[in-house]
Amino acid sequence: MLRRRFIQKTRLYSAITANNKINKLKRIEDIPTLKQFPIIGHSYLFFPGAKYQLERLTEAVEDISAKLGTIFKLNLGGTNLIVSTDADHTEALFRNEGKYPIRPAFPALLHYRRVNYGSVGVVPGNGEEWYKYRQGVMPLLKANLVRSYRQKHEEIADNFVEYIDKNMNRMLILEDVFTHLLKYTIEAISVVSPGHHFQCLSNYNNNNNNNNKEDIIDIITASIDFMDGLHRTFTGLPIWKYYKTVGYRKLETSHKTIHKIVEKHLKELDKDKPEIIQTTNSYMHSLFSNTSYNWNDKLMLSMETFLGGIDATATTIAVTLHYLAHNKDVQDLARSECIQDNTRLPYLRACVKESLRMCPTGGANSRVTIADTNIGGYLIPKHTLVLPFSSVTSNKPEYFDKPGVYRPERWLRDSNCNVHPFASLPFGFGARMCPGRRIAEQEIVVLLMKVSIVANILSLLLVSCITDMIGI
Ligand code: HEM
Repeated sequence: MLRRRFIQKTRLYSAITANNKINKLKRIEDIPTLKQFPIIGHSYLFFPGAKYQLERLTEAVEDISAKLGTIFKLNLGGTNLIVSTDADHTEALFRNEGKYPIRPAFPALLHYRRVNYGSVGVVPGNGEEWYKYRQGVMPLLKANLVRSYRQKHEEIADNFVEYIDKNMNRMLILEDVFTHLLKYTIEAISVVSPGHHFQCLSNYNNNNNNNNKEDIIDIITASIDFMDGLHRTFTGLPIWKYYKTVGYRKLETSHKTIHKIVEKHLKELDKDKPEIIQTTNSYMHSLFSNTSYNWNDKLMLSMETFLGGIDATATTIAVTLHYLAHNKDVQDLARSECIQDNTRLPYLRACVKESLRMCPTGGANSRVTIADTNIGGYLIPKHTLVLPFSSVTSNKPEYFDKPGVYRPERWLRDSNCNVHPFASLPFGFGARMCPGRRIAEQEIVVLLMKVSIVANILSLLLVSCITDMIGI
């Protein structure tokens, strides 16, 4: 039924563009906007001490949208962009993104990787270059491949439960939860890529003879620096082109660390016979056997898969623990499901979806239009940057009844809730959708299952730390 609706809508959009109704669309100049100034545009709204903060963009968009409506224009850093909080607009944008969807490039990352490694990977680029690398990460979306890591992920989650037990203080509080969760996600993704099991959680008895210890600390630092460097170089002026800014240096140091560690393990893996990798690590096998990649490409894709999985997955676990802790009834239902039958876990999966609806890890899924496109009755010209603000859309009462209430039931198949398919897109959409989605979901669900089963009140004890960390 829903699928039929998608197809009808897609046809509708192309029809509008195809026939002359295009003339009836409003112009981009008619889209509401705020007062702006020459050169700085709307940047003044985000200056230090000004009304909004770039770090809290969701709040800014909510506020501006309340004044101007569901679609408005901003000019930031010299770039004109269209912001929308309407799920139909999101649908119109994504349904017209074409074979090579364009996301704003990360020029600093692109430059650094091209100069130093001769290979850029999936995240920063666009067009045919992006497509080439994208093929390398596509196997991650295969259900069988993800399932082949399930047992390992369960073992790591078991270790994490034991680790929590050993690291709680006398008040039964686990402090600095996020760092501990990062250790879990590093360990869980490491068995997929680079295919070497980093033992991050084995130091719980302070008798650690684990030879990875320094690597683990370096990886945590690199993961944090990478995200920070990406943010700084993307949002700031491109001064990195002239000298190495803080943001650029963070990209550099994080890459050096991850490159060194991943390369070491890839070389070990390369010595193994292909049949051995095939049975032990399906993802690395698919990467190694792909003849269109040279060594640097394989290394870059392995680094990207490794880095891509750490921060967002840990944040999602933290957010879900937070909501479960605050919603005892939901927590009880999730726990009884885990105890009865821990195979498919539809309710626990719905909890993760609901957490990502209320608090997605990224605010917007942006695209650059590849052709003139009708968005909300406006003719948006080719090459315009559009930001559908999913974090605002997914918290609107138009799309979710009582959006401030944590209600995983709305995601269950037999619920009567008719969720707009573009109202909550925590993993993006289409050809550029997050390739790590299934791996991340498995890591998250397996950990929550293990924690729920053994620890009745554990998540309640985690509340304060998690709330502080993510600021919900
Ligand atoms: C809960 C955890 C995660 C969330 C919420 C998340 C979210 C996202 C989002 C929103 C995008 C942009 C999609 C778009 O533009 O349509 C993305 C892209 C990406 N993610 Fe994830 N992600 C998560 C975990 C992972 C993991 C575990 C990996 C690696 C295994 C990964 C690797 C990537 C890569 C390589 C891209 C770039 C894809 C492309 O440009 O084609 N992510 N992710």
